[in-house]
Amino acid sequence: MSLSTVTCIEDLRQIARRREARAIFDYVDRGSYDEDTLNANRNDLEAIKLRQRVLIDVGARSTQGTILGETVTMPVSIAPTGLTGLNWGDGEILAARAAEKFGIPFTLSTMSICSIEDVAAATRKPFWFQLYVMRDRGFAASLVERAKEAGCSALVLTCDLQVQGQRHRDIKNGLSVPPRLTIANMIDVAMKPRWALSVLMGKRKSFGNLAGHIPEGGNLKTLSQWIAGQFDPTLSWDDVAWIKSIWPGKLILKGILDPQDARHAMESGADALVVSNHGGRQLDGARSAISALPAIKDIVGDSMEVMMDSGIRSGKDVYRALALGASSVMIGRAFLYGLAAGGEAGVAKALDIIQKELDVAMALTGVNTTGEITSELLDRG
Ligand code: GLV
Repeated sequence: MSLSTVTCIEDLRQIARRREARAIFDYVDRGSYDEDTLNANRNDLEAIKLRQRVLIDVGARSTQGTILGETVTMPVSIAPTGLTGLNWGDGEILAARAAEKFGIPFTLSTMSICSIEDVAAATRKPFWFQLYVMRDRGFAASLVERAKEAGCSALVLTCDLQVQGQRHRDIKNGLSVPPRLTIANMIDVAMKPRWALSVLMGKRKSFGNLAGHIPEGGNLKTLSQWIAGQFDPTLSWDDVAWIKSIWPGKLILKGILDPQDARHAMESGADALVVSNHGGRQLDGARSAISALPAIKDIVGDSMEVMMDSGIRSGKDVYRALALGASSVMIGRAFLYGLAAGGEAGVAKALDIIQKELDVAMALTGVNTTGEITSELLDRG
């Protein structure tokens, strides 16, 4: 299968699986522990039914929306994802460019391969930067400073990863950063020469933002120890005020799943929150993000923007999230499968698929604008 015959995100996922090293594919694809929450994200989205409406004039459709005051081609942004540039060399740059051309925001992860400066040099529009707060607050502040210097327009504070949920596959696969050729993965990598070449040709092979802050040649076992040693488990709501004091731009709190935390988020003065369980990669046993969304929207109302991620794989899913109160969604795996399948063109393909699916879902439910998508359009049986 080539990109031209791809018709859905699952096709991109299948190409990604064949094309890239097993350890990287699994890092993207899998979740923590028993993957109960990973599975709940998908199952709960799939259970939401839409109302088929007919003979309504849908000749003036637009998938446009607004995110933090900016008009976007569709109400979707690219989520921060770690190790993006190991799916395809310079992957963060390619994904940022695809997002820029398409007209939606791109978020660069602290744990990216390309650095803040690499992405800034290769793009024209401001992107968002995701922050992990380290025990070394001076280092965390320096990342914020670099994001400011690079002209980033929003800071995304990840709130749900003070410690890491264990991903069994990463340990079993011996996932390492930079990727390493070991006896165990030699055959796998030998069968993926295009992937190996692309990553080899990439500007960086390790965490671009953390140069000088990670152990030389450390693998992910060391890295999860590094996370345990470096990420600040004392991070609290009080620190959001500190972040606000050093970041003048928009602030997005990512990883809100509980109504009580939604109240804190409102009081924090942040501009937006993301209802998220980190794509089922953190607290296994937590509820799905889509099932948490309505109660959080009820609490927050219009006082701040409500975004959502975790499980979105189609335009139909975007529709479901909008209907349940999100004003936009983030996609992680959906764009990463595209990146691994075809670089920048693959990300563009993923975005195009999602937009077309959203457009058709809008047409067949009888709406012309994304603003009209409400829970009225869900079939509650
Ligand atoms: C990092 O954010 C991860 O989920 O691996």
